[in-house]
Amino acid sequence: MSRRHEQRIPRSKWTRDHASRLRRTPDTTAPIIYPPERRISDEYHLWDTWFLRERDGSIAEVDGYRIAFSLSASSSLLPGKRHDEARIRYFYSTDGREWTYGGPVFPEGEAFGSRQWAGSTLLDDGTVYAYYTAAGHRDEPELTYEQRICVGAGGTVSTDGDGLRIDGPWDHSVLLEPDGERYQTQEQSMRQDGPIYTFRDPWFFEDPETEETYLLFEGNTPIDDPDPERTYNGCIGIAYSETGDPADWAVLDPLLDAERVNQELERPHVVVRNGRYYLFTPSHQHTFAPGCSGFDALYGFVADSLFGPYEPLNETGLVVANPENAPFQAYSWLAFGHGDEILVTSFFNYFDLNGLSLDDVAFLPEAEQFRRFGGTYAPTLRLQVAGNRTRIWGELGYGRIPLERESLAAPDRVRYRATDD
Ligand code: FRU
Repeated sequence: MSRRHEQRIPRSKWTRDHASRLRRTPDTTAPIIYPPERRISDEYHLWDTWFLRERDGSIAEVDGYRIAFSLSASSSLLPGKRHDEARIRYFYSTDGREWTYGGPVFPEGEAFGSRQWAGSTLLDDGTVYAYYTAAGHRDEPELTYEQRICVGAGGTVSTDGDGLRIDGPWDHSVLLEPDGERYQTQEQSMRQDGPIYTFRDPWFFEDPETEETYLLFEGNTPIDDPDPERTYNGCIGIAYSETGDPADWAVLDPLLDAERVNQELERPHVVVRNGRYYLFTPSHQHTFAPGCSGFDALYGFVADSLFGPYEPLNETGLVVANPENAPFQAYSWLAFGHGDEILVTSFFNYFDLNGLSLDDVAFLPEAEQFRRFGGTYAPTLRLQVAGNRTRIWGELGYGRIPLERESLAAPDRVRYRATDD
């Protein structure tokens, strides 16, 4: 590890003081929307989504196509069961509006894990590195919840008159597992009897200032304390590749932790705009520690360099909250740069819940569980950013993913509603 990495202490914190001031404001609350008239896929529920990107973080364009990767499961499966069957499937588009299904990224039975959870995908000199979380183990008789950060390396993208294909052969390897010192293991978390641990959602990031290569991920810090508040210990993990090799990583200390605040800092990612580092992470209302309350929302932090110190955006960390009347309308927000703006995509989650929580959904009649689940791309939000402030100031269409060079002027159709109740 380089001296630079050893010296950067103390780590940034999302504190109970920040979180105690979480309130929805007009600048941080998304509008209430109807589900789209057409889903991206009738065959699959889609949720966590990301894009094929170049090393510098820009969305890759291959022969005029951009490519989206989504966690997916058969749409005949109850929406709440989808995590148990998740596979990464890809979709491609020439205009960032209409998406065509390509196929599963990996042939069945080849990837690690009994299901694949979120990741990121890099195109490096024509080679695809598909990072994913292996949840559980291949061929296990019953689902288990160990999470390992993996990559399938060596894929290629090709196009012809019929569209686009991503093919292997893939060289799968386990890149990172928690060490029990910097990052909590499953065993440590089980001893604590707290909420289920996390070690997932790898996100490739090249620092534009140093051109150094990193992988961010969601983790927990090891804590040995019976206090129930203390078992909420989400953190944003980071690993470093000394050579820049996208398949060779060494873990570093977490970038930021939310000890006693929140258990899950999901899908962490960084967008650099105007020389500042914006670190984003979606999280849930139900993963806040006892005595803290927040929302299903995108949270964020800002710093002058990758290693911080980070301060919470908008003083509390709140960047995009679901509206009070539709508190579970969207989830798994992902930010990416566009000119001076930051755009935020997400998936359409549950609507029409009329005061029910996410945990209550499983008690609804099955037909209602299906009816109230979106499972497709939500409208893309437009954020203005200035220093440590952000403001939602507009929307683009459902699943609209523009490249940097594309103008946002042409209006999109978003179906707004007054209230979800
Ligand atoms: C966020 C998330 C990710 C995980 C996936 C599993 O929506 O919890 O952290 O990879 O869902 O389905």
